[in-house]
Amino acid sequence: MDVVITPDPASAAVAAADIVEEYVRPGPMTLGLATGSTPVATYRELIRRHREAALSFARVRAFLLDEYLGLTPDDEESYHRTIRREFTESIDIPDDEVFGPDGTSSDPDRAARLYDEAIRSAGGVDLQLLGIGSNGHIGFNEPGTPLDGRTHSATLHRQTVSDNARFFGGSTSAVPVHVLTQGLGTIRDARALLLIATGEAKAEAVAAMIEGPADPSCPASVLQLHAHATVILDEAAASRLGPH
Ligand code: F6R
Repeated sequence: MDVVITPDPASAAVAAADIVEEYVRPGPMTLGLATGSTPVATYRELIRRHREAALSFARVRAFLLDEYLGLTPDDEESYHRTIRREFTESIDIPDDEVFGPDGTSSDPDRAARLYDEAIRSAGGVDLQLLGIGSNGHIGFNEPGTPLDGRTHSATLHRQTVSDNARFFGGSTSAVPVHVLTQGLGTIRDARALLLIATGEAKAEAVAAMIEGPADPSCPASVLQLHAHATVILDEAAASRLGPH
């Protein structure tokens, strides 16, 4: 695992955008997208490069990591809608090249299987962006999730519901608790992983991911088992790492 420590969140976003650009510039490629607040600064930097430095996403296909079950794609807080608003509507990726798990399906297990098949038939993900939950989750693979699972439905832990309440007017009861998420095995199939973490609230999870055992107690520790994993941190997120 390559660990890059940058001074602040803005520098972390530039470092992450540099890596994404390396993959996107030559195209065609398949990009795995994360939602949540952490990658937003990276998406803004990529939008800036699209506008000012002719970085084209016209030959990019994108797959989302996860989706809430029960929100329609047009619901403002669905991940499908969020990624459009935060990123894809401001670049030149074709709308119909952005895929996510079907959160409206009445058969989530089938929707999960179909999603894995869609990723496989697209030739797999070249570069997967990731954030980390304060409890060590990636995608919505909460602690205890097997390291080799495929896309599946899951129930969010109380910590994640409370972390995500800020997107739902601060109300924990408004956060959907059932989700579809790429499994840790699906995520590991990507040819390269790029995890961004900023802020003190992530410091403990980051230390467990990098220095703890690779086991389901910290799902993000699965990055230790990947041959091409890069972690970009700001100093606050790196603050609990031991001396090297
Ligand atoms: C989002 C996702 C989650 C987030 C994580 C961190 O698609 O898969 O794992 O990356 O919950 O969220 P933020 O960045 O909001 O702290």
